[in-house]
Amino acid sequence: MKFSGTGSAAPAHVLTNDMLSTMVETSDEWIRERTGIRERRIAQKESAHDLALAAAQKALLAARSTGVNSEDIDIVICATLGYEIRCPSLACCLQRDLGLREDILAFDLNAACSGFLYALVVASRFVAEGKQVLLVGCETLSNFMDFTDRSTCILFGDGAGAAVVGPGEDTAPSDFYWVSEAQGNSEYLVVDRYIHMEGQAVFKFAVEVLLRSIREVTVKAHWRPEDIDVFICHQANERIIKSAAKRLRLPLERFFMNLAHYGNTSAASIPLALDEALSAGVLYPGAKVVMAGFGGGLTAGAVCFTWK
Ligand code: ACO
Repeated sequence: MKFSGTGSAAPAHVLTNDMLSTMVETSDEWIRERTGIRERRIAQKESAHDLALAAAQKALLAARSTGVNSEDIDIVICATLGYEIRCPSLACCLQRDLGLREDILAFDLNAACSGFLYALVVASRFVAEGKQVLLVGCETLSNFMDFTDRSTCILFGDGAGAAVVGPGEDTAPSDFYWVSEAQGNSEYLVVDRYIHMEGQAVFKFAVEVLLRSIREVTVKAHWRPEDIDVFICHQANERIIKSAAKRLRLPLERFFMNLAHYGNTSAASIPLALDEALSAGVLYPGAKVVMAGFGGGLTAGAVCFTWK
C-alpha cells in the first residue's frame, strides 16, 4: 500500500497547561510529568467537519503531485467517535464538499483511538483491488470533555489528519495486527455525554498492548522491532511510548512524538503525527515504519510498511 498524500489540521485556539490550572486543581508540572502534554488545541470556531475538510484537502493536494487526483478516489472512510451529526456521515459530507465522484463508498468508522488503524485495515482490502482510498481521522473530543474533571480534561485535544492510500508500482508489503478486547475492559473508557476513564487501567492496557502490537506486527512482516526506523504510535501519553521503547530496548528517538502540542486527539492522533513526521523529514524512502494505536473498546492495532 502506498501513501500518496497526507494532510492535517488543528483548531487555532491553544489551551496550555497553565490555562487549565486556572480551571481545575492541577499544574503544568503535574501534567508534563505524568503525560508529556504541554498544550492542546480546542475547537472554538471550527467544527469537526471544517478540520476534516482542511486535512483532506491537503492530503488530496499532496497526492496530486504523485498523479492521484480527486476524481480517482473510490472510497472515503472517516475514523471518528464523536461527529456531532449522526447522518449524513462525515465521510458523506466530505464526498459532497470535496466534489468527489458519486459512484463511491463513503462511511464513518468508530474504533475510538484505534480508528485510523482500523480504517487502514479496511482500506487495504480495497487497495488490493486497485482502489484509491481517502482516509480521515477527525475528532473534536472537547465536545465531550468535562472541564471540571481534572483526571480527563488535561489529556485530550481536537484535530484531524488525512491520507490518500492506493496501489502503485512502488507499493510496499504491509502487515497488520489488530484486536478488540471488550470482555472485562469496555467500561474502562466510555464516552457518552462526557469522557469517563479509569486512567490506571487504561494505562496498563495501553502499555501491554502497544508492546504486543509492535512485536506481533513485526513478526508477521519477518522483521524485528530493532529493524524499525520510525514508530508512529497513538499520541496519548509520553510515558506509554517511553515504556514501549524501554521494554523493546530501542532509542526513544525512533518514536516520533507530537503529543506535547496536541494532547490525545483520538482517531486524529496517528494521521496527524504521520503528516507532521513527513513534514519534519523523519520519514524517508526506504525507512521501515510501524504505526501502532490503542483506544476505547478496548481496541488496538498496528501496521508496518516501508516508506516509499
Ligand atoms: N492534576 C493533579 N493531580 C491529579 C490530576 C491532575 N490533572 N489528575 C489526577 N490527579 C491526582 C489524583 O487525584 C491522585 O491523587 P490522590 O493520590 O490524592 O488520590 C493522583 O493525582 C494520582 O492519580 P492517578 O490517576 O494514579 O495518576 P496517574 O499517574 O495514573 O496518571 C493519567 C493519570 C495521566 C490519567 C494516567 O493514568 C494515564 O495516562 N492513563 C492512560 C490514559 C490514556 O492514555 N488514555 C487514552 C488511551 S485510549 C484513548 O486514547 C481514547
